[in-house]
Parts: sequence; structure tokens; C-alpha cells
Amino acid sequence: MNFVVVFTLFLLAPLSKAIVEDFCVADYTLPRGPAGYSCKDPDKLTFDDFVFKGIPGNTSNIYSSAVTPAFSSEFAAFNGLGLAMARLDFEPGGVVALHTHRTSEVLILARGKIIAGFISTNNTAYYKTLKVGDIMIFPQSLLHFQVNVGKTRALAFVTLNSAKPGLQFIDNSLFGGNLPPKLAEKIMVLDPEQVKKLKKAFGGTF
Ligand SMILES: *[C@@H]1O[C@H](CO)[C@@H](O)[C@H](O)[C@H]1NC(C)=O
Ligand SMILES: *[C@@H]1O[C@H](CO)[C@@H](O)[C@H](O)[C@H]1NC(C)=O
Repeated sequence: MNFVVVFTLFLLAPLSKAIVEDFCVADYTLPRGPAGYSCKDPDKLTFDDFVFKGIPGNTSNIYSSAVTPAFSSEFAAFNGLGLAMARLDFEPGGVVALHTHRTSEVLILARGKIIAGFISTNNTAYYKTLKVGDIMIFPQSLLHFQVNVGKTRALAFVTLNSAKPGLQFIDNSLFGGNLPPKLAEKIMVLDPEQVKKLKKAFGGTF
């Protein structure tokens, strides 16, 4: 093995299953491997590396809600730990639209009143009105959603069992990206006018 290969293995070694370090706070300036980011020099870490300031997200959008992820790409300390979090802010009537992750998710409601639900692969919807302090589980990779049904703002926190769980909104995937409108019409059984309207709303290309 040449020096570069040995050096790269050395960098990525702490990311393998066997835990050989207490932590591997991501260093975004170093090359990233499939298992995660390379570790920041432990001698350069401070207390602040382990704290994420969850500022309220911007809810000025068509959903009147904000999802603020603290995944390993935003919160370096999650790297290698197999877990991540996100903060959900809702205006009254706000919605976190139908979406999925590669992982399971557990939600705790901190403020307000929401309906949270998921849809199983046999198309059964499981949904429930949650009160402050309630915890709900969304099983691995199933489509799920949250809706503020209270009269005030709502706030929830979610934890996911991967440092990089992914976040895929169905609407954005279909109408916010490069999927050609003709294909969107076919695979979603929609009229051309509906697809045009949705593509405009979500900023997808035509
Ligand atoms: C929130 O988002 C809206 C729409 O994108 C933008 O006009 C506004 O400046 C943002 N507000 C803040 C505080 O960033
Ligand atoms: C889906 O699964 C649930 C739980 O096993 C079952 O109660 C329900 O009848 C199933 N629905 C369909 C449409 O098969």
C-alpha cells in the first residue's frame, strides 16, 4: 500500500463499526468517506462542538412550517454516532408535508397540538392528535406527516437513527426537481395543468 492509501485508511478508521475513539466530530474540510465524515483533530475540539443552537426556522413558505435539520451535515458532533435530530416549527395550520427518511423517527411534542401520522406499505394510515409531552414513533422509511391543528404555534423535536438519515419530501421530489412534466403526469395520473401549477409552486424545471 502506498502512503496515500495508508493515510486515507487511517483517517477513516474511526468511522468503522468498532468504536476506537470516544467521538468523531466531523471535519468538513477533510475528504468524506461512505461511512461519514473524517474526524476533527480531538485536540482542537471545544465544548461548543457538542452543542447545536436550534434557532427557529423560517416558516414563511406555502406550508407555514420549518424543518431545521441537525444531521451530521449541520451538526458535526453527530458524525459516527448513528443518530440525528431535527426541529419542527409550525404556524397555526402549518404542515410538515408527506416525506420519508432512510431511518425510523421518534417525535416529541414540546408546544401546541398536532396531528402526526404515517402510512404503512399496505396503505393503512396511522394518525393521532398529540398533546405536549407525547412521543410518537414513525417506523423506518414509511411516509409520514405532521399538521398543526391547534390555535397557537407548535414546536416538536425528532430524533432519527442515523447521523445522515436523509429527508425526502414527495412534493419536492416530484415537482421541485428535474422530473419532466410529461413523466410526472403519467406516474402521478395528473392533468398537464395540475403538473404545471405544482412545478411552478415548487420551483422545478420544465
Ligand atoms: C423568510 O423567508 C421569506 C421567504 O423566503 C423571506 O422573504 C424572509 O426574508 C425570510 N425571513 C428571515 C428572517 O430570514
Ligand atoms: C394492513 O395491515 C393492518 C395491520 O396488520 C391490517 O389491520 C389491515 O387490515 C391491512 N390492510 C389492508 C388493506 O390489507
